[in-house]
Amino acid sequence: MDDGAFAGFSEQARRRLPRLFADYIDGGAHGERTMARNRAAFGQWGIVPRGLRDVSSINLATQCFGRSWALPVFLAPLGFAGMFHAHGEQGAAYAAHKRGVGMGVSTFSIAPMEKVAATGADLMAQIYVFRDRALTRDMLERARACGMDGIILTIDTAITPVRERDMRNGFRHLSRPTATQMAGLLRHPSWLYGQVRGGAMPNVGNIAGYTGSRGVMAQARDVVAQIDAGLDWDDLAWLRATWGGTLVVKGIMHPDDAIRAAEIGADGLIISNHGGRQMDPAPATLDVLPAIAQAVGGRVDIMLDSGIRRGGDVVAALALGARAVSIGRPWAWGLAAGGARGVGLVLDTLAREISDVMALAGLPDIAAVRAAGRNALWRF
Ligand code: FNR
Repeated sequence: MDDGAFAGFSEQARRRLPRLFADYIDGGAHGERTMARNRAAFGQWGIVPRGLRDVSSINLATQCFGRSWALPVFLAPLGFAGMFHAHGEQGAAYAAHKRGVGMGVSTFSIAPMEKVAATGADLMAQIYVFRDRALTRDMLERARACGMDGIILTIDTAITPVRERDMRNGFRHLSRPTATQMAGLLRHPSWLYGQVRGGAMPNVGNIAGYTGSRGVMAQARDVVAQIDAGLDWDDLAWLRATWGGTLVVKGIMHPDDAIRAAEIGADGLIISNHGGRQMDPAPATLDVLPAIAQAVGGRVDIMLDSGIRRGGDVVAALALGARAVSIGRPWAWGLAAGGARGVGLVLDTLAREISDVMALAGLPDIAAVRAAGRNALWRF
């Protein structure tokens, strides 16, 4: 796979992580065709160089979902990130805070959201509407109590599809490691040492209170069982009525769904195919963006993720109607490769490339990118 500007980070991550975590990060559903298509879609757009415009200062400051960030980049919610490095989710949040960007805290965060929030980062809690609504209400209460005024409802995980790499590695049965798994883990003493030192090992801390089961994957399975495949639009309306803060719906891929979510009162949408980890074959997010942007017509802010690996990818997404993008695997690789510093470097790398592209396109700020729209682009 083309890891773009992050090839060095992903290489390091694969060297440092036990195979089953590296594959969990890198892999996708079924034939991984959606993953490949996400990247290929960015390859179809060029950005046209423009000269004789004052680009002596490039400003990447962005407003999205009623928040202000230094870059149009958000750290996507990632489950189990605390297993990738002892700095865990707190390390990523610290890096996000330092760079002035926001971050989503996964339901499956190893660190409890309260600890992640203590970094002072601008966080949004990623939640599910569980079968037992009391669990969801409790999560909302916790998010509010630690100062988060925004939530992200993920809607593309009604079921978890086959991910062949995870099946091969027995990822979901890690709570009773097989001999092969143990051997794999033991081949990475620096990782093991980091986990033990960081104390991150055996809990999905964000949800540990809801499950009596022992072992990280057993806990995760209990919570996955709470994800209700019967969820529908009425449940979104229930959440809208229950949560007074910013509500963002993640996993929108169809204009009709975007319109419906906006009508129910969502404040924002994330166009996402979960990085190719859910539906395969799904269209690329960049390919569905223009029709969705047109359908919502500026009523709600749109963020896009899945396959962002270069500054030019970000600029193309903004020109086609997104207000910001989020990155998943790149920050997982950065964290695995170098903890909080690695995540910071991932953000710096992307910021530098966005700035390069904007300068050479004669677009000094994000408003200029959005105003230029397709006029800044070339369809190959
Ligand atoms: C995810 N993603 C995800 N999304 C979510 O809403 N809740 C979650 O717990 C997770 N967990 C998760 C773990 C890992 C290892 C990955 C790679 C992804 C999806 C994530 O938020 C985002 O949509 C994708 O990662 C974006 O695609 P890229 O940037 O990874 O290509």
